[in-house]
Amino acid sequence: MFERFRSAPNAKAVTGAIYNGFWRLCKQNKLLIKWSGPAPMVSSFIDTLANLSQARGHIFIEGFRMLIVQISDLHISSPNTDTYGHAPMADKLQQCVDHINQFSPKPDVVLVSGDICDSGALDQTTRAAEILNQLTIPYYVIAGNHDLRQTMFETFGGEHCPARDDQFLQYVIDGFDVRMIGLDSVIPGKSGGEMCDDRVQWLDEQLALEPEKPTVLFLHHPPFKFSVPETDEDGFLGSDAFGDVVEKYSNIKRVMCGHIHLLTHASWRGTIVSTAPSMGMQLDLDLSMTKPSGFVLTDPAYLVHHWTTQKNLITHTITVRDYDGPFPFAAI
Ligand SMILES: [Fe+2]
Repeated sequence: MFERFRSAPNAKAVTGAIYNGFWRLCKQNKLLIKWSGPAPMVSSFIDTLANLSQARGHIFIEGFRMLIVQISDLHISSPNTDTYGHAPMADKLQQCVDHINQFSPKPDVVLVSGDICDSGALDQTTRAAEILNQLTIPYYVIAGNHDLRQTMFETFGGEHCPARDDQFLQYVIDGFDVRMIGLDSVIPGKSGGEMCDDRVQWLDEQLALEPEKPTVLFLHHPPFKFSVPETDEDGFLGSDAFGDVVEKYSNIKRVMCGHIHLLTHASWRGTIVSTAPSMGMQLDLDLSMTKPSGFVLTDPAYLVHHWTTQKNLITHTITVRDYDGPFPFAAI
């Protein structure tokens, strides 16, 4: 990254004082620290410096406009138990939360895309909340098919789930460079998803309020078959009507989901639908369906969706593990 600063074609056009100042800050890693402030301050800082220098597109190509962390499918079990007898999901969530809190620059928000607990029980939801509340970043939750709306609303309602009531846990998060709309795709008692007429209409109304602003949707179920037998069988009711609304708004930059327990991406109705990995229970993918459905235990993982100064939404996958390194890309 720093070598790019040295070789940037426009660097010579930048006044010596400004360029040297940037370069010194970069070498000392101080520029990154500056960028980790609240989103509006960072945006204003980048805009001001870009206007001053003519260097936009070179020095600031990797500037941090907004960082959205997504975690999904935590499946927290009751205290002193492991999920399905094998998966220590509370431990994995704790590792993940600690890692996110150390991420630099500091993310703006964490979105939790459902299946927070394993069977909707209050002690499971409370256990999840005790760990999530350690996040030093604002976080928001929506429900998955393993959650109970009422328990979710009672536990997270208000600050972390600003829905109006526990009928549908859906809401809009404003105040950031990217608008975020949390959707409720749950059918109580069923594994599959749904966007009924009421929910589709509500979404259409919310999108119509800000049709130009970059927006992401987050919900638990991907709204169409993802070529994964187990979840394809669960199905998604109302996919066509949901897709008709999504297709109306070209400002929808991503539809962020969970449910599959795998990192996947697909194009759909003029945007991209992504599913996040589970917190550590990944699906043992078997497209031939010749063996029983199951999961494998993996390291915790989360996604970092980076809304850049060039207005691209780029997604990185972070695996939480004590690796050796990092080592420099240089011969010894
Ligand atoms: Fe799940």
